[in-house]
Amino acid sequence: MRKKVGLFGLGVCLLLALAAAPAPEVSAPHLLQRLGCVACHAFQGQGGKEGEALDHIGARLSPAELEASLLRPRSRHPQAKMPSYAHLRLWEIRALVDYLASLK
Ligand code: HEC
Repeated sequence: MRKKVGLFGLGVCLLLALAAAPAPEVSAPHLLQRLGCVACHAFQGQGGKEGEALDHIGARLSPAELEASLLRPRSRHPQAKMPSYAHLRLWEIRALVDYLASLK
């Protein structure tokens, strides 16, 4: 009996620890690679030419505009070729927008 309670307690602790864990550390430059942004956008001298280079995008667009262009590209360009990233998790969108906004 004692042993069971101990194991149960351990399980609860593990669950609590997992639930309380912060969003995984994200490196936004890494996200640009992983999400395929650089297939179409140049960044730090490398990448595609379909979209504009992202190196100074924060100087041209506000965080709200950046967020809209990720979640609803067509809201900004009716014929947008860029895919929507609305399927991303909130923390990924936040990390991306914060990072892009810092590129001035
Ligand atoms: C399939 C190619 C493609 C991919 C992948 C892509 N983009 Fe784009 N992006 C474009 C094009 C093309 C435009 C210009 C507007 C349009 O036609 O959609 C654009 C526009 C933008 C803009 C400017 C929007 C505006 O309103 O002026 C931002 C910011 C942007 N992209 C960021 C990103 C980020 C960040 C990613 C990755 C999460 C990404 N893009 C992935 C092609 C792409």
